Amino acid sequence: MDRLGGELARLCKVVGTEPETPVELLAGLLGSHGARPAAAPPVWPSDVADDHSPVEFSLAFNDNEPPALRILGEALAATPGVRANMSAAEDFLEAHAGRFGLSMRRLDMVRDLFDSHQPQGAYALWLSLVFRNGRRPEFKVYFNPEVRGAEHAPELVGEALHRLGLEDAYRAMLAHAVRPGELGVRDRLTFFALDLYDEPQARVKVYLSHFDAEAHDVARAASMVDGVDPEMVSGFCAAAGNTRRFDARPLVGSYTITGDADRPVGYSVYVPIRSYVEDDLQARSRVVELLTRHRFDTALFDRALGALTARPLGDGVGLIPHVSLRLGPPRPGITVYLSAEAYGVLPPRTAGVRAA
Ligand code: TRP
Repeated sequence: MDRLGGELARLCKVVGTEPETPVELLAGLLGSHGARPAAAPPVWPSDVADDHSPVEFSLAFNDNEPPALRILGEALAATPGVRANMSAAEDFLEAHAGRFGLSMRRLDMVRDLFDSHQPQGAYALWLSLVFRNGRRPEFKVYFNPEVRGAEHAPELVGEALHRLGLEDAYRAMLAHAVRPGELGVRDRLTFFALDLYDEPQARVKVYLSHFDAEAHDVARAASMVDGVDPEMVSGFCAAAGNTRRFDARPLVGSYTITGDADRPVGYSVYVPIRSYVEDDLQARSRVVELLTRHRFDTALFDRALGALTARPLGDGVGLIPHVSLRLGPPRPGITVYLSAEAYGVLPPRTAGVRAA
């Protein structure tokens, strides 16, 4: 916790947010494990981050408002496990619902679908916390659609959207985002997210991971959303990944649905940039290029990197796991994901060459 808390406090400073509440919430997510020394091995092999840290930070640059700081986290139970951590997450939400004005209404409508006695996969429920200057934190939950096995994910998400009155949007999304015959094979429903507040702009997000895909595959997925330029999506992927085929980690796309619309209002693409660079120096320069193209503050991004690590960027890879482009309302922009590197740093891919 010392390390993670220090990183978070420094990131808060970079974006001009008071650190107190964020650091307190981070401690709540880690529970009794927050007191462990930084050097100890992970208590739970969380899939939130490559090094098994249960948290990942991100910096969301917004077209129309100041940048926001976010945490993606897995709540850790005293004895961690997929199901135990889901309960810990729900306890955490309960404990903070009153103070932060959370609404569990839609979560309660679907939670049974994603709760299994023998959950499959790496997680059942993750949380994200968003800190915007001068506002109270926003909470979001991520369910694992593959928790009953990958083959049941389409029906699970279908039923969840049906209960939320959004099944028309679902059919339209699958029709555009899934390559023929690839649903549950190379195009997998991997996250299902809900904003925990009860306002018209509260979002439902449906994520698809596209294995072995090309930029035009996500461009096609994006093309069904009004006002979204598919070429922005493919151009972004090409610049971030510098590859034709994304055959290492998958491209991920998400549809945003708000209110009771029968079509998604927004699309985001997440490029797992860490799998397509030699080292973090290269990842940083690609991100700087993308931020510049979109007129965002690259100095802020560099300060955020500095808040996390003092190591030379060329000495590792994974500090910047994903970079994403968010298109459409409510908040278009670019998000840069940042690893805490609490448990370790992967060597750069050029290491062997250099040593030789
Ligand atoms: N670590 C996981 C992955 O890379 C989950 C994850 C964390 C993720 N942050 C993300 C997935 C951002 C997509 C986008 O798949």
